[in-house]
Amino acid sequence: MDGIFRAIDLFAGIGGIRLGFKEAFNDEIEFVFSNEIDPYCCQTYKANFGDDPLGDITKINPNSIPDFDILLAGFPCQAFSIAGRKEGFDDTRGTLFYNIAKILDAKKPMAFLLENVPHLMNHDKGRTFQIIRDILEEDLNYNIHYIILNAKNFGLPQNRPRIFIVGFKQNLRFTFPKPTNEVIKLEEILEDKVDESYYLSQQYLNGLKKHRARHEAKGNGFGYVVVSRNGIANAIVLGGMGKERNLVKDKILTNCWKREGDNIQLRNNEGIRKMTEREWARLQGFPETFTFPVAKTRIYRQLANSVSVPVISAIAKEILKSLTENIIEKKPILNTNEKHAIDLLLTMFRRKKFTHSGKKMKSSIYSIIKNYALRIDDIDEILNILFKLKLIERLEKDKLYFNKKLLSINTETEFKKLIYDSFFDGKPISTTIEQYI
Ligand SMILES: C[S@@+](CC[C@H](N)C(=O)[O-])C[C@H]1O[C@@H](n2cnc3c(N)ncnc32)[C@H](O)[C@@H]1O
Repeated sequence: MDGIFRAIDLFAGIGGIRLGFKEAFNDEIEFVFSNEIDPYCCQTYKANFGDDPLGDITKINPNSIPDFDILLAGFPCQAFSIAGRKEGFDDTRGTLFYNIAKILDAKKPMAFLLENVPHLMNHDKGRTFQIIRDILEEDLNYNIHYIILNAKNFGLPQNRPRIFIVGFKQNLRFTFPKPTNEVIKLEEILEDKVDESYYLSQQYLNGLKKHRARHEAKGNGFGYVVVSRNGIANAIVLGGMGKERNLVKDKILTNCWKREGDNIQLRNNEGIRKMTEREWARLQGFPETFTFPVAKTRIYRQLANSVSVPVISAIAKEILKSLTENIIEKKPILNTNEKHAIDLLLTMFRRKKFTHSGKKMKSSIYSIIKNYALRIDDIDEILNILFKLKLIERLEKDKLYFNKKLLSINTETEFKKLIYDSFFDGKPISTTIEQYI
């Protein structure tokens, strides 16, 4: 690993998850693959990231995906109509989670992040989530962590809880980010000057009021909502009353007409308007530079489907910490003499140079170094290292005694383990260190 993590972006939408990871990892992440079925999302994705995501995940052979370290996916929530997991994750065939599981199984990345609606946890009385957990943990052997985090606790004026599942192939220390609890009012993200077309006509607003009164009379809480400028927005959602549940009160426009279909309508006299696409983008924490080369209605849809970037970025920072802390732990902390000391022990083991008593004359150690062309200059320092680690029990002027534990070992694996434990105090050993031994 040269410090750059390779990631893939599945169900990529417009790349909100990618944005958050870019923010957290900076230059330490490279996206090697993305996929998204919706051609309009792909247009937005391409305009901002330059990549053209591949289409339907069910048509993608996991083995055709380039190798990567981190899998990212905000996948659609679907029920699994299965009675049990008789065949592991194959039982979820036909769901999009199955395709994620297949990729994890084929490529075994070091980490993943899955994002979904909180309802995933209660779906089908909790069975859907239980199956997902079992597959990730038992069938695919990942250590998983999950939590519901809300955008409103990460500096965005939007009430948007989402579930996040993080998995690691190794058992790494990981904690989800603590809420920043930075309070941002809706007002702070509203645009100063909004085109008149966003204001509701008086007739439409009257209709909404009637509709709400009808529902309230029946005891339903449905209907339009004018959110407080000092408060936060409701979750931005797709379709239906999506925009009407996030109306704002703005400057009152007087004598202002609006074309609605074939009619010319007077705009409402309360200053009630829909939020703009840019305001929705801000509610999700997208930068002002993010562009949308698609029609307005599609922009709303794409943003509602996307993620709150600062939440992703906060999680990504923690993932990066876990991965790099582990790599730091895994990095060889051996100096040159320590590495040479290990070379000496291994050569002696492989060449069967240990005697039953463990005794060795220093002169014979010199011969071993010479005969096997070991790169050892400072023999005294090396013997001292082994003495400090108790791999040499006694060290005298011209002779020494190796620890009896070394002598009783038959296999190289066990021999290495004993050396590892001595050098690294029982800490997990990496493949990086492995190359020195
Ligand atoms: C919840 S959204 C993910 C949004 C994304 N995280 C973002 O930041 O924009 C799920 C996405 O999955 C896509 N999708 C659904 N079925 C798919 C399939 N079979 N193959 C690829 N993408 C699919 C949808 O078009 C949608 O954009």
